[in-house]
Amino acid sequence: MASVGSIRRGGFSVVGRSHGLAAEFFGQRKISCAVDATLGGGRDALFLASLLSEGGKVYGFDIQAEAVRRSRGLFEKNGLLDRCEFFNAGHENMSDLIPRALFGNVGCVFFNLGWLPGSDKSVATRPSTTVAAIRAAVELMDKSRGFLSVAAYRAHPGGREEFEAVGELFEREIPFGECEISDPADAGSPALFYARFGRGR
Ligand SMILES: C[S@@+](CC[C@H](N)C(=O)[O-])C[C@H]1O[C@@H](n2cnc3c(N)ncnc32)[C@H](O)[C@@H]1O
Repeated sequence: MASVGSIRRGGFSVVGRSHGLAAEFFGQRKISCAVDATLGGGRDALFLASLLSEGGKVYGFDIQAEAVRRSRGLFEKNGLLDRCEFFNAGHENMSDLIPRALFGNVGCVFFNLGWLPGSDKSVATRPSTTVAAIRAAVELMDKSRGFLSVAAYRAHPGGREEFEAVGELFEREIPFGECEISDPADAGSPALFYARFGRGR
């Protein structure tokens, strides 16, 4: 992983940066399938919908029914209900819930770790399930042109361990993985891991 060499300075927003990198990677090209592994309020999923071709879908996961409700509401408000399939389930189960026909065809996968804003902070992503889900996501992705992004937060209890587990996974198993730290001078600032598979790297 180009972890050290790719670190950039400045306290950027990891969410904005993940959207910008994905938009730049795909350019004008649309994708038929994207996955939001942590739906939360649905903003990342809504961004992913903007990458879809006609008839394409965003598959989304969250262990909290409230997150699925909020995300579905956002898609409804934007007239995009037919563009989503959201599951009240852990992302570690994504291989069982995404149709087999799409295996190898998922263009973009986002993870935005942590907890659902405005709800119980103890219901947060955990290193073991996060690592299992990232491995599953890599299996599902289109390796000829795919973008994987994981926003990790280091300041909350358990956040640093999760950041380190994701870092180790990227280092060992994810080709062309990169890591950018929002503010290298701040040990608690968020990090963005990402990988660009295939063309456009
Ligand atoms: C920071 S929020 C995601 C933000 C979201 N992408 C957005 O655009 O608002 C993290 C979410 O991960 C969810 N989560 C925690 N563990 C999970 C798991 N095993 N599988 C799927 N979602 C999980 C939490 O319930 C929370 O809603």
